[in-house]
Amino acid sequence: MSYYEKVIEAKNYISGFITKTPPLAITAGSGLGGLAENMTDKIILDAEKIPNWPSSTVAGHAGKIIAGNFKGHEIILLQGRVHYYEGYSMQDVTFPVRVLAMLGIKQYLATNAAGAINLNFKAGDIIAVSDHINFMGDNPLRGNDNFSWNDRYPDMTYAYSPRFLKIFESLNLKKGVYAAFIGPSFETPAEIRMAKNAGADIVGMSTVPEIIIANSMGIEAGALSCIANMAAGIDGRKLTGQEVFDVAAKITGKLENIISEFINKLEE
Ligand code: HPA
Repeated sequence: MSYYEKVIEAKNYISGFITKTPPLAITAGSGLGGLAENMTDKIILDAEKIPNWPSSTVAGHAGKIIAGNFKGHEIILLQGRVHYYEGYSMQDVTFPVRVLAMLGIKQYLATNAAGAINLNFKAGDIIAVSDHINFMGDNPLRGNDNFSWNDRYPDMTYAYSPRFLKIFESLNLKKGVYAAFIGPSFETPAEIRMAKNAGADIVGMSTVPEIIIANSMGIEAGALSCIANMAAGIDGRKLTGQEVFDVAAKITGKLENIISEFINKLEE
């Protein structure tokens, strides 16, 4: 079965449960799965039951696809994502966005936990991603699959929707450039200096592949980063994965409010 056929198989399975696709889908990143708690009228699908869907191996990344009402708005929430560092391919990592696109999603918002390079940011902040630098050394469009469903050479000038960014600005969010490394080791202080010199404000291990695929499939995309820690070498503290999950989990309430205001303005 081709990759394309696998995506269609997953899409057909989901369509059997979620009969009306809302315009917006959101991915909840590390420790941020609590976003689903305030949704009502939920249809919850287990990732493991969806044909070909990659399931996460990381604690805090329960794989669920949830359609329902989030503070008055119909959305699809992907609870948990799979990461390249788990050993998945770029095609696996972006499988969910492919399926969402085939379901008819028009807008995609990624959320993630990230480290801060910019000294104006601190743990607990939510930053609107304005652009990215791909230090992952791979690209989800690499390969020879079915180019009829995406642009082979998507423009990335407006990869992070200017309309989304304007809304985030109106909500008083700071914005920053996200540098993606593969992980799962945290970056070295030298890597963080390099990323800083390259113009990065925040650093993480996800999101970039998803944003590339969303753009290639004509979906309006954006990302919000929850700052879990200062990046390696910035404040000299040692980093732990647990700390990232703990801090991210504490930001969920704030993130929820921002997302709800974001959707209100999106629909105005
Ligand atoms: N680096 C990479 N990914 C991260 C970090 C970090 O410092 N914090 C949370 N996710």
